[in-house]
Amino acid sequence: MLKLDRITKRYGTLTALDGVSLEIAPGEFFGLLGPNGAGKSTLMSLVAGLRAPEAGRITLDGRRVTAADPATRISLGLVPQAIALYEDLSAEQNLQIFGELYGLRGPDLRARIDEALEAVQLADRRRDQVKTFSGGMQRRLNLVAALLHRPRLLLCDEPTVGVDPQSRNAIFDFLEARVRAGLTVIYSTHYMEEATRLCSRIAIIDHGRIHALGTLDELLARLPFRDEISFPATPATAELAARLAAHGQIIRDGGTHRFRPATAFRTSAFYALAESLALPPRLFVTERPTLEALFLHLTGRTLRE
Ligand SMILES: Nc1ncnc2c1ncn2[C@@H]1O[C@H](COP(=O)(O)OP(=O)(O)O)[C@@H](O)[C@H]1O
Ligand SMILES: [Mg+2]
Repeated sequence: MLKLDRITKRYGTLTALDGVSLEIAPGEFFGLLGPNGAGKSTLMSLVAGLRAPEAGRITLDGRRVTAADPATRISLGLVPQAIALYEDLSAEQNLQIFGELYGLRGPDLRARIDEALEAVQLADRRRDQVKTFSGGMQRRLNLVAALLHRPRLLLCDEPTVGVDPQSRNAIFDFLEARVRAGLTVIYSTHYMEEATRLCSRIAIIDHGRIHALGTLDELLARLPFRDEISFPATPATAELAARLAAHGQIIRDGGTHRFRPATAFRTSAFYALAESLALPPRLFVTERPTLEALFLHLTGRTLRE
């Protein structure tokens, strides 16, 4: 559906995107995971045709995306990182303006506005000025404003920043339902929990480059360790901790040992070793590695830096 081919975007001497290539198929919930300044918003603005890259080509449904051609823009919706609403106008009036910008009119537009307000639980606030809304309510309105013209592709740029947990869950549920109904979403975030929960594929982006791309399982398989196993650091487990050092990384974390097995070391071998030392399985807690660990592994930085 969407193809980016070796895209480079510069702002003066700063290279915001550095040879980015990716392809997105219809129906994907695609995540762009990276810290502030990674290039996520720049990528969105190029796909939306708001800016032009210095090099490379973007095609949407086989048609080249250019700032001058409105045809590709009509098949996508953009939820920008900064809320873009008229705050002195009501929820309803905002949707009316967005709808009219896309050429919608009359009873069809009214029906779509009703449906949109219902979908994000704002029907009872439809006549209130947007400036009286919480951050989460504004986000929800901004989201449906981008969907009134029923685009096939939705670009969501960090739509949960400054949002209360209740609105965040409402946004997640809403997007998941839309993707089940066939919408394609590109979702940028610096929260690994969001990418983990929502996205069918994730690109890890930093300093304008894609460092890894795949499903969550594919990405985590790139780590040189598997599930982390932790157990209490006691005299009884000292021998186990000492022997594990040969099979991976063992870290003392307060009263706990954390063991990151080398990829060749099987979990079954771990339990066999524990059993041979008469240590019961209930001592051990297994934890899956996270995207945060992968980001650190790939870039040497944390997502919050
Ligand atoms: N309009 C702009 N002019 C100059 N530099 C910009 C502009 N927009 C973004 N940048 C820079 O480009 C890099 C990528 O920014 P951005 O795409 O906003 O990243 P993200 O959305 O991942 O935080 C950053 O270093 C940022 O400071
Ligand atoms: Mg951004």
